[in-house]
Amino acid sequence: MTFKTIIEPFRIKVVEQIKMTTPEQRKEMIQAAGYNIFALHSDDVIIDLLTDSGTGAMSANQWGGVMRGDESYAGSPSYFNFYDSIHDVTGFEYVIPTHQGRAAERILFSVTCNEGDVVPNNSHFDTTRANVEYRGAVALDLPCGELADMDSDRPFKGNMDVDRLRAAFAEYGPDRIPLVMMTVTNNSGGGQPVSLANMRAVAEVCREFDKPLYLDACRIAENAMFIKMREPGYAEKSVREIVREMCDLAQGCTMSAKKDAIVNMGGFLATRDADLKRDAQSLLILTEGFPTYGGLSGRDLEALAIGMQEGIDEDYLNYRLTSTRYVGQHLRDAGVPLLWPTGGHAIYLDAKRFAPHLSPTQLPGVSVAIALYELGGVRACEIGTLMFGRQDPATGEELAGPRELVRLAIPRRVYTQSHMDYVIEVVLKAWQQRESLPAYRIVEQPPFLRHFSAKLEPVS
Ligand code: F0G
Repeated sequence: MTFKTIIEPFRIKVVEQIKMTTPEQRKEMIQAAGYNIFALHSDDVIIDLLTDSGTGAMSANQWGGVMRGDESYAGSPSYFNFYDSIHDVTGFEYVIPTHQGRAAERILFSVTCNEGDVVPNNSHFDTTRANVEYRGAVALDLPCGELADMDSDRPFKGNMDVDRLRAAFAEYGPDRIPLVMMTVTNNSGGGQPVSLANMRAVAEVCREFDKPLYLDACRIAENAMFIKMREPGYAEKSVREIVREMCDLAQGCTMSAKKDAIVNMGGFLATRDADLKRDAQSLLILTEGFPTYGGLSGRDLEALAIGMQEGIDEDYLNYRLTSTRYVGQHLRDAGVPLLWPTGGHAIYLDAKRFAPHLSPTQLPGVSVAIALYELGGVRACEIGTLMFGRQDPATGEELAGPRELVRLAIPRRVYTQSHMDYVIEVVLKAWQQRESLPAYRIVEQPPFLRHFSAKLEPVS
């Protein structure tokens, strides 16, 4: 017998108190924070959807692992548990522990990229792009055309455009392309999944030009579950088998374990390439640590080893993707504009259509995010002109970013169905009041990554 309610497949043993606040208090607190949601104290937030990274709840088993963690400098059993778990899931031969995903990226691009190189990716995440560019290389995004249509029901909008990949090889020449990356799921592309058919086509191009394919595997388990649910021929395969099939197409991966391995800190670089591993380990020792702990303590390695297995559990993944879709479906049914279908880890509201009376430089995404905080204490993240626009240094004119989104990222195993029902209510309340959402302007900004520390004010 099947039931329509898909329950959280866990019980709660430890709880964290949420401090309740009133709209009046929140209006004062966001004003004191310079209308920047990053400047809020997190205990003044009721539901924190700023990120799904490092914010998951560890299991009793993982906390047990934390106690068992062995802190030996070299050759700790915790390292071997970490290695065995990752090797078991991915099949990659060498595994290099790092403190989080971006450290793995920095090492990978340091050993593969030179000035003037080009790295194609379906869509680079910000830190991936920054690490490619830091090497003097070009981070080339090649998302498929379907991603541009926010409303269509296409199953794999995270795919790479394979024709454009071929065109990139023709334009820049294989000598300038040291590797190809694929981000699964495609975070900058709305958390949308990549199909195995698309990965095979990309891997085929890489084989033709004898170039390695690396995965940005932060959310590989969610991507694999989408493949099981949506890709013809995969319904009967296990997520474990699908993850392995994805990894079999690649030479290695970087992973921020703060996502699908459900730890609060950790990451790794994995590869089949012995030469790359040797070079990467030299850099690891320089800036992260000895090869059997890298940037992590023994207890982190244990928690990660266990989380890597829990993250591919299908009951958990079914609940997770269903819960994200549940929120998206309710909002969509009420007419709220959002990227459809919902991604694995987040809902992306389209602030351009949410507040069409505001132009991009009037910061509609900021306005929606602040409304969610003031009305209900929900913290979401603007991915729009505050994050990706800039001020023209010559004229001081504000230039718009490419899109105006507000991301509601859902931490793993942290919030329940009633929390999600509350989030829906808060978004719907902001939607009812959309015509009165104010414009914002930036009153103080640093020269780079301005969204983290800019100060803003509403324009009355
Ligand atoms: N790659 C992707 C696709 C990511 O989403 C992230 C982080 C990273 C790499 C970097 O990993 O933070 O461990 O260094 N994404 C977080 C987010 C910060 O909120 O989406 P990290």
